Amino acid sequence: MIKFKIPATSANIGPGFDCFGLAYSFYNEYSIEKADSMLIEGCDPAFTTKDNIFNVAFNKTMKKLGKTGSYHVHYKPTIPASRGLGSSASVIVAGCRTANILYGGKNKLSDDEIFQIASTIEGHPDNVAPAIFGGLTASTKLNDGTFYYKKYKVSNKLYFTVLIPDFKTSTEMARKLLPKDYKKEEAVTMISHSVLMIEALQSGDFNLLKTVCKDFIHEPYRKKLIKDYDLIKKRVEKNGDAVLIISGSGPTLLTISNDKNFYKKINLKGTKDNWLIKPLGLKK
Ligand code: HSE
Repeated sequence: MIKFKIPATSANIGPGFDCFGLAYSFYNEYSIEKADSMLIEGCDPAFTTKDNIFNVAFNKTMKKLGKTGSYHVHYKPTIPASRGLGSSASVIVAGCRTANILYGGKNKLSDDEIFQIASTIEGHPDNVAPAIFGGLTASTKLNDGTFYYKKYKVSNKLYFTVLIPDFKTSTEMARKLLPKDYKKEEAVTMISHSVLMIEALQSGDFNLLKTVCKDFIHEPYRKKLIKDYDLIKKRVEKNGDAVLIISGSGPTLLTISNDKNFYKKINLKGTKDNWLIKPLGLKK
């Protein structure tokens, strides 16, 4: 058995819708071996069928390698599914990596080639890029259909805590809530905020981060999926100690603070759902 792990990720990070992503030191671990027929074990039986994303990713990568063969994989999904923490991207990247490790031989695909395959399956690269490369990434789909990413360092003056609820939402449904068009003023604000957000995350300038970590593309439309979003945001941001944003398409919420112990102050008493407060380090 060969073991490897792929991290959980948060996409969007405030103003970087479908572009920014952050990888955490919180992982799904996969154990793989060559086999004559496909077998996926350990996870929910719903994820063990031939049309599941692990197998789709494995097959696409095998096609690129020009190889045939199958595999056994065992994984327990530590990253909760359908919570906005990149569990699908983790599974897709794992499927690609399984083919590459078991059958790549001397002609293994590069991480960038795996990034291309995995992003095509996922449809957008913002979770896939940090799942493969770690750290903070900005990524985009180019006009020729290929994907591009850039990785940035994150200041160690910033601390990240995710609030994971006990309910799920689907990205597909959360994307349908978004409008087709945006006003020019909103687009201009998002462009400027996203550039300055990268600067704030790299430098650890927390005042800048608080100023520009505002989103008009998805949060106003998706927050209705999270009953206590407004209450939790008000409490988290009350004293200017942290910002609160939606992780990916939600429903997990992400707080960013310059106080290492901020997570101990998060008060979720009286909210309608059960929340797990989880401070997370970054995967560099
Ligand atoms: N950028 C994506 C979204 C991430 O917010 O819909 C979820 O996969």
